[in-house]
Amino acid sequence: MLDAKGRPSGAKWDEARGLWFTTAPRGDYTDVSIARLREAGRVHDSPSGRVAIKYFLRRGDDGRWYKDQPIDALWDDAEVRPLRHCPKREDMGYDTQKPEGLLARILRWATRPGDRVLDCFSGSGTTASVAEQLGRRWVAIDVGDAAIATTRRRLVQLPATQPWALATIAQAERPRARRALATLSRSDSATTVELTGFEVEGPSSGLPAVAHWTSWVDYWLIDTDHDGAVFRARQRVMRAPKQPLPTRVQVEARGRVLVRVVDVLGEEATVELSG
Ligand SMILES: C[S@@+](CC[C@H](N)C(=O)[O-])C[C@H]1O[C@@H](n2cnc3c(N)ncnc32)[C@H](O)[C@@H]1O
Repeated sequence: MLDAKGRPSGAKWDEARGLWFTTAPRGDYTDVSIARLREAGRVHDSPSGRVAIKYFLRRGDDGRWYKDQPIDALWDDAEVRPLRHCPKREDMGYDTQKPEGLLARILRWATRPGDRVLDCFSGSGTTASVAEQLGRRWVAIDVGDAAIATTRRRLVQLPATQPWALATIAQAERPRARRALATLSRSDSATTVELTGFEVEGPSSGLPAVAHWTSWVDYWLIDTDHDGAVFRARQRVMRAPKQPLPTRVQVEARGRVLVRVVDVLGEEATVELSG
């Protein structure tokens, strides 16, 4: 914004630098920091003797004035909010999860659309999620089942812009065989898919006993028009926080119907329905 005299609003002129600047109170800057800033010409002494920090202004390509503020190791501006201040839907409940805004800034600076991004400590999949949304290709790796399952659940909720798959390196003693049970029923008014069971077979040492088979299920997917080759998740049935898994959904089935169940360890089972 410019004032009546054509200056950026509220700005003062720095004679030595030939630049406009605004000021902010010294806040909790120590005397040592103030001395360092003074040496760099960044301290403004008001006529009343109050010390303030100068922020020089530069005109952006869009004609607006911006504070020329060096980036330091603490990023806490509006684009990079801590996770607790981000929209609830972003929080995957993964202990060490970083905010998407942080990764978006890094990827925008460091890569161009179409570039490949590798995160070998994927955790909840923040890097992969942001890369996908910014049109970058990505590889996500993690040693933990919970991380793989969380990354996958996160990615499946995004509109897919490119084909992707998650590979898990098998760890010792994990159950392999899964079986999904589901039915398809058609009436004049609706076609319904019901998930009726999910079985986990094989070595189960160390696995928690579950009271009901639905506890194994993280989410399930329906391909309502399967082409015989690629499973396309045209409908996704996710678990809402603290709610039981929905097991019956209405679909618009056009052809072959397949159901794919993804369990809490990231393993999956697919079944074709007849009816
Ligand atoms: C700090 S977390 C990453 C959090 C992630 N940036 C996010 O936003 O959710 C580190 C991750 O590294 C994984 N990890 C630790 N050692 C590993 C290893 N040797 N190979 C692969 N992943 C590993 C852990 O399982 C954990 O999920």
